[in-house]
Amino acid sequence: MTPISRRAVLGLGALGAATVAAGAAALAAMTRPWQEWQPTLDPDAGLAFREPEVLRSESGELRVTLRAAPGSHEVAGRRATTFGYNGGLPGPTLAVRAGDRLRVRLVNDLDEVTNLHVHGLHVSPEENGDNVFVEVGPGEAFDYEYRLPEDHPPGVYWYHPHHHGTVADQIYGGLYGAIVVEDPEPFAVTAERLLVVSDLTLDGGGEIVWPAPMDQMMGREGELVLVNGQATPHLTARSGDRERWRIVNACTSRFLSLRLDGHRLHLLGKDGGRFAEPVLAEQLVLAPGNRADLLVTVGRGTGVLRAIPYDRGGLGMGMGGMMGGPSGDAGPVRLAELRVSGSGAGDGALPALAAPRDLRDEDVERRRELVFAMGMGGGMGGMAGMMSFTIDGREFDHDRVDQEVGLGTVEEWTILNDSPMDHPFHLHVWPMQLLEENGREVDEPTWQDVVNVPARGSVRMRVAFEDFAGRTVYHCHILDHEDRGMMGVVEAT
Ligand code: C2O
Ligand code: CU
Ligand code: CU
Repeated sequence: MTPISRRAVLGLGALGAATVAAGAAALAAMTRPWQEWQPTLDPDAGLAFREPEVLRSESGELRVTLRAAPGSHEVAGRRATTFGYNGGLPGPTLAVRAGDRLRVRLVNDLDEVTNLHVHGLHVSPEENGDNVFVEVGPGEAFDYEYRLPEDHPPGVYWYHPHHHGTVADQIYGGLYGAIVVEDPEPFAVTAERLLVVSDLTLDGGGEIVWPAPMDQMMGREGELVLVNGQATPHLTARSGDRERWRIVNACTSRFLSLRLDGHRLHLLGKDGGRFAEPVLAEQLVLAPGNRADLLVTVGRGTGVLRAIPYDRGGLGMGMGGMMGGPSGDAGPVRLAELRVSGSGAGDGALPALAAPRDLRDEDVERRRELVFAMGMGGGMGGMAGMMSFTIDGREFDHDRVDQEVGLGTVEEWTILNDSPMDHPFHLHVWPMQLLEENGREVDEPTWQDVVNVPARGSVRMRVAFEDFAGRTVYHCHILDHEDRGMMGVVEAT
């Protein structure tokens, strides 16, 4: 969608015209950088950390209404005009347990089609389940119902729109929220925190700056990197405390390479996966769509959760001076500040985790290879608008089934990346066990639902297509690429 029409969707067309009429002074005010306009970006003036409202299931059921609408919302401590679920960003956190029924009434108060996807949940993709082919028109509502199996893995998941063509715009604009599948027995920690990280560029008037076509080819990255809608909020803890942090990378394209120097991080798992035991991590990369479930052992001094620049490649040859990517260009981003005062109980033993399933011990029914590519579709010019994003040479077609798999079988998928840029591969419904990255074997059973395929590299996974039959999708989770066709249909029968 072009910036102009998007502005019209938000009802701001008239404002734009008025600005032009009012002349240069007003125009200058409108184009003042957000950072200048936004005093709370001063690292010493960060807001207290806050979390979205939590809606928790009771007696096996959670019933919620999510209303997607544009509006004036609090972003980084100020008013901005964005999208949001139920009046803000992120939307409410949905807390459920294995075996629960989650019923969501999605009300569409946008001026365009939307729908809902429960990213990572192992639930049916059919009918009014996690069906990304559903279209909910403006002014319409739709009742989704998700039945989590009794053995659904605990972990951190998330929800967001999934209508092909507008996914990046709608998420970037503010439509996302977390889903927590709680552990049957909670871990002993001093605090549980949820950090939903997203990015967005706003102008001086608090209006969204929509990306130019070139930024969409690359995968847009917003200038503001937000934690629960705030810029560099601060949280407080005592040294020796052990906290559990659940982190969601809800950015449409930005990779987060996270560090929290001076404090100890143990990774319980990524996405819905769990390791055999907590893994000490100094630096942790979350591709778009990935989540981390972490134990943080608080050290002595104040620390900053930072996102270190990550090189995810570029558009490659023929793009003139426009090669390269935003991630590599900027310095580290301060996501949140951990202020330490006093000392707590001291760290106890790390929790024991259950041994994860290992598909390397199971029979493989079929092996496949999928090729991700970017190309100049159409002519010699190398025009950005002509660039194609394909899987096996084809763009997404919702009427075509690209992979037919046998329900109840285990398959091995190798994803080859024939392009100069990373593409995070995401499969709906069925989690993937990562076996190999760029030919290097992964020893520990590692389960994820988004696996990065490095530029000019490859990954190999195994998937157990079980429990649910039906049609769903796999795609690049740089959502600008997904919207441009880097998606395919898989059907289990
Ligand atoms: Cu997070 Cu197909 O999506
Ligand atoms: Cu998903
Ligand atoms: Cu991609």
